[in-house]
Amino acid sequence: MTAVGIDAMEIWTGKLKLDLAETFAPAQGDDPGKYTKGLGLHASSFPDVYEDIVTMAANAAHRLMERKGLEPADIGRIDVATESSFDNSKPVSTYVAGCLEQVYDGDFHHANKGERKFACIAGTQSLDDAYNWIRAGRNRGRAAIVIATDTALYARDDPGEATQGAGAVAMLVDEDPSLVELSTEQGFGSADETDFLKPNQQFPSVDGKRSVNVYLARMREALDDFASQVGDIHPDDYPLIPFHTPFPGMVRKAAALGYRHIIRGTDVEDLVAEEIGHQPMREDFESDDAFRDAIREYTDALTETERYQDWYADTIDPTLEISREVGNWYTGSVHIARAAGLKHAREHGRELDGKQLLVASYGSGAQAEVHAETVVPGWEEEIAQLNIDEQNRKRYNLSFEEYEQIHDVHNHDTNADVEEFTAPDSEFVFDGWGRMGERKYRYVE
Ligand code: CAA
Repeated sequence: MTAVGIDAMEIWTGKLKLDLAETFAPAQGDDPGKYTKGLGLHASSFPDVYEDIVTMAANAAHRLMERKGLEPADIGRIDVATESSFDNSKPVSTYVAGCLEQVYDGDFHHANKGERKFACIAGTQSLDDAYNWIRAGRNRGRAAIVIATDTALYARDDPGEATQGAGAVAMLVDEDPSLVELSTEQGFGSADETDFLKPNQQFPSVDGKRSVNVYLARMREALDDFASQVGDIHPDDYPLIPFHTPFPGMVRKAAALGYRHIIRGTDVEDLVAEEIGHQPMREDFESDDAFRDAIREYTDALTETERYQDWYADTIDPTLEISREVGNWYTGSVHIARAAGLKHAREHGRELDGKQLLVASYGSGAQAEVHAETVVPGWEEEIAQLNIDEQNRKRYNLSFEEYEQIHDVHNHDTNADVEEFTAPDSEFVFDGWGRMGERKYRYVE
């Protein structure tokens, strides 16, 4: 069976930066440690005045096509995943195709386009769709472009405000990929939840504390479902585990749950049992509450062990390196976690050819997906092309007053007239409104 997977990816960050410790915390009267240590975030990215989900998506896709030497005729599918869409009918992918057609001779008239919505998990679902499309033989030799793009804004003074972020990830899904091969091994955990939603409104209604527990509950279900498909799993099977990362502190909790789960019944559980005992079993407790307390105690003790801390440092921490600097990109978040993990591995000479990643996606509302991917030879050259560090360094550092202005600029209910903070350079920009309320875009040389 020919391998199908992610052949290449590009990341485009919003060009503005809000420093959480130096700028946000003092304005909120908070200890910076709440953000840098508690949430694990240092900064958020925001779009400049001329940027939005379309420009970020189109710019990432353009760079992807240029780097891979592609023409529109090579692409049979453009899927955009977003939870920041501004139109209930016309998909963002049509705007993206329209942008790209300004700079290529050909067009995308024969490409299937769509928009996927299921909160942050929609980017992974779009990858699944592209994989299925190629596997089904409907691609006519063409590749798919999957883009996850979001401007993750919360209402001012919402507890989620510190976790905002904006950016796009464009991925080329093709046969014989150069980065990772996708597989049929998947597990799902899905339930009708009201943890985070946007009922016809721009900013989310969030029950923040509950959303954390829903994330963990659905992730536990997805891991169970995944294990039921693949049989016994062991921590040594997966050198990197990229999680959906609304903020790194969330992944700290999810990783502890995941580790406890995947060591169960393995030699690793026996080894840590010498220090902290075996995992509590439900049948040994009279009530669910007592069992839950015992699990919490066991997990706390587990995360204190050297074995866990070494595993976390190797398997989880590298996946958080980009998120820490850019915040939550919703649909793109798990994909920048994968990129960060691979980038770190390349920079530290880790040998990953043929090794598996366990990718743990999540979307509020709510659904988790856990799937395995195989890193393919050539991944180092591919991942070396990312220039996200340079983009992050070049961001304009907002003062708190400027942050307030830019929040208003991107608030659909306000009409803020603010000068741009950076100058566009060889990229698509927002260019005002058309006669039917559509957004217009142009390419700036
Ligand atoms: N030094 C060190 N740590 C500190 C600290 C300090 N000075 N002050 C606080 N902390 C710690 C807290 O102990 C806490 O850590 P633990 O959770 O490990 O105990 C952490 O910093 C955060 O502090 P609070 O819980 O007090 O923060 P908060 O209540 O103001 O906000 C939140 C936290 C509710 C998660 C909020 O950020 C939020 O609503 N976020 C949006 C929703 C979200 O991201 N949910 C995640 C799951 S849903 C999902 O993943 C989908 C998605 O993308 C949105």
